[in-house]
Amino acid sequence: MEKKTICVCGAGTMGAGIAQVSAAAGFATILFDVDPGMLDKARIRTGNDLQQLLNRSKISEEKRNSTLSNITYASEIRDCVAEVVIEAIVEKPEVKIELFSQLAAINSPATIFASNTSSLSISSLAKNIAHPERVAGLHFFNPAPVMKLVEVVRADQTSQAVMETLVDLTRRFGKTPVACRDSPGFIVNRVARPYYIESLRLAEAGVAFETIDRLLENAGFRMGPFRLMDLIGNDINYAVSCSVYEQLGRPERLMPSTIQKTKVDNGELGKKTGKGYYS
Ligand code: NAI
Repeated sequence: MEKKTICVCGAGTMGAGIAQVSAAAGFATILFDVDPGMLDKARIRTGNDLQQLLNRSKISEEKRNSTLSNITYASEIRDCVAEVVIEAIVEKPEVKIELFSQLAAINSPATIFASNTSSLSISSLAKNIAHPERVAGLHFFNPAPVMKLVEVVRADQTSQAVMETLVDLTRRFGKTPVACRDSPGFIVNRVARPYYIESLRLAEAGVAFETIDRLLENAGFRMGPFRLMDLIGNDINYAVSCSVYEQLGRPERLMPSTIQKTKVDNGELGKKTGKGYYS
């Protein structure tokens, strides 16, 4: 993998962070987004993040500079030629399939297509892509430069060689890979779903969300559910809630909340829009 180029698609909450991880690990990294404004934001965010690490003596000046120079920014799909593509765009299967299909047309059949989806079926994505054995899930956690865990998800079609390459790549990124099967919410989002949904039920019943957050934070959770949903993005969290609910056969206990839908309809997406549950 030493000389490989990595292309990260989507320069939002996750993509910008994944590109930073890849560049810091020494890979030539292309960050692609259809919205040039998002590329500008990502460039500023990465610069600030690395500067903070430098100020706190967590990295050297040389490391800051090499990480920055390893990232190129692209708003044209023709610039997305790489050995590994990691997709972190909107949580909508049809948009992800369209992107992978466009990338398949300009990349080698051996290029690996990894999706950072939180909940969509990787096998369903793969079956629509030429050479589906090169499609897998590579699920990072937020914020990507900080969180160690990465779920490496094997679709029905994924080859053993592709799984091994992605596990190796994850280690080179300085992360901890966990191989898992393609199942609704994989491991973490399946286990974590009731954390959000039960808390939303309490809020529906009239308990203030700040109180729920404070209680759970005092009980030892790093972040209360509402603060965490704002960090994740309420649009993403709602899409994941709906996807896991549908895939598991609509169990009552995991039914998404109207509070989530209202937040999304009002554009109160959390940190990325400046307002969610909190301002
Ligand atoms: P986001 O909404 O912050 O960013 C998405 C970006 O994709 C935007 O910049 C948008 O302009 C871009 N985009 C949309 N369509 C595109 C296309 N066709 N080609 C290129 N760029 C396109 O989303 P976020 O939160 O970064 O999520 C991205 C993916 O990562 C989703 O699949 C989500 O489920 C997953 N994920 C999100 C986590 C989170 O905490 N937000 C955690 C782990 C995974």
